[in-house]
Amino acid sequence: MNFSRAIKIAPSILAADFANFGAECRAVEDQGADWVHVDVMDGHFVPNITFGPATCAAIRPHIRGIMDVHLMIAPVDPYIEGFAKAGADIISAHIEAGPHIHRTLQAIRASGAKAGLAINPGTGLDGVENLLDMIDLVCVMTVNPGFGGQKFIDMSDKVRRLRALIGTRPIHIEIDGGITPETAPLMARAGADVLVAGSAVFKGGSVTDVASYGANIRAIRAAAEAAIGTTT
Ligand code: DX5
Ligand code: ZN
Repeated sequence: MNFSRAIKIAPSILAADFANFGAECRAVEDQGADWVHVDVMDGHFVPNITFGPATCAAIRPHIRGIMDVHLMIAPVDPYIEGFAKAGADIISAHIEAGPHIHRTLQAIRASGAKAGLAINPGTGLDGVENLLDMIDLVCVMTVNPGFGGQKFIDMSDKVRRLRALIGTRPIHIEIDGGITPETAPLMARAGADVLVAGSAVFKGGSVTDVASYGANIRAIRAAAEAAIGTTT
């Protein structure tokens, strides 16, 4: 994938119909999504369980573009190969998930996937600084991970400092949690380029009524682009 800081909208299938993942992925891409964000939860690192590599492999053929896999699991390392084989383009692991994030990021890149580093709202940037040469993306959580539909926690200051730390390196800043047309501008202005949105994309629609998905995606994108003075 060519690196670009243009705004990308990544619908989270956590808010999709779990009995229709294939159709939901095709629908959001047809309706203008740039990436598809896939939330993996283990009931241990976070207090909720979603699905694992087998489900990722099953939905992969239904995604034309980027499959962005967000691992909210601990431990991470034993499962990296499984998610890479399932066809993940990007695998993000949490800095809080274990004592050896450096090894985890090495293993993700060795698997052939791009490496993402996810950080909880309560985590600072100290640990990120030493990892900048090993990552392709930082996922800044704007909710505590585990559930969709939570209230946005403003991390503008952290995102601004992260953007400055990244400088000219080809590292995406992804924001995850509570993104809507109201909150997206704050994050775009602070330096984010990938906006994950679950509830705000899937609300009001269904696999048999996908027009709302498109309207929702366009509303988030337009708000973010207006905030930074670009349009695509
Ligand atoms: C939270 C997940 C998010 C979540 C976002 O643990 O990582 O990706 O699905 O959902 P909304 O957009 O509803 O906050
Ligand atoms: Zn996520």
